[in-house]
Amino acid sequence: MAHDQLTDIGACVFDAYGTLFDVAAAAAHCKDDLGDKMAPLATLWRDKQLSYSWLRSLMGEYVEFWQVTQDGLDYSLAALGLDGDAALRQKLLDLYFKLDAYPEVKGVLTTLKTAGLKTAILSNGSPDMLAAAVTNAGIGAVLDDVQSVADVGIFKPHPSVYQMSVDRLGVEAGRICFMSSNAWDAAAAANFGFRVVWVNRFKQPPERLPGKIVTQLDNLSGLPELLGL
Ligand code: LAC
Repeated sequence: MAHDQLTDIGACVFDAYGTLFDVAAAAAHCKDDLGDKMAPLATLWRDKQLSYSWLRSLMGEYVEFWQVTQDGLDYSLAALGLDGDAALRQKLLDLYFKLDAYPEVKGVLTTLKTAGLKTAILSNGSPDMLAAAVTNAGIGAVLDDVQSVADVGIFKPHPSVYQMSVDRLGVEAGRICFMSSNAWDAAAAANFGFRVVWVNRFKQPPERLPGKIVTQLDNLSGLPELLGL
């Protein structure tokens, strides 16, 4: 049965990194090179990548997410004493460019499309990164649109990013169901006016930020049921 706040949904819009694509996968594939630095590297890389996106947005110094991703990696490799290894850096970047999707993603998107819902990605990711990850996951056919912040020139959580989904899908904000594993993105999207399901993959506490989510899931498998499919 549908959640009572998730009826009359016209489109399902998904965050990419951490929600559809496994941000820890690049470091995990380099387990043998990284040893006990694998988990710290994955965490610090993600933290720096995101904080650089927010700081650059505040500074008015937008660059594409691929640059921010490289800058975050370079900081993290230096912080962990791994900055002399050019081959490791390249291997991590090649893996990040086409990250693995979480196992349930393709099946869930297929169910939504089959039920007649519009589906899209709305991500900080550069168009080429998103295209590579979508192709790698084999989900291009079950997505109506892949929306990158590159088209507005500022990162999430700026409201103009969420507005892009409304404009491009032609669906009003209140009929868009937005999924993100990033609690700050979930809060911001809810504050904008989307109906938000927080995919709390990492068992985190809620952020103390404006924006009221509808509900949370452990992963995307339960989404069709929440939507009454
Ligand atoms: C994205 C980041 C926030 O895909 O995960 O937009």
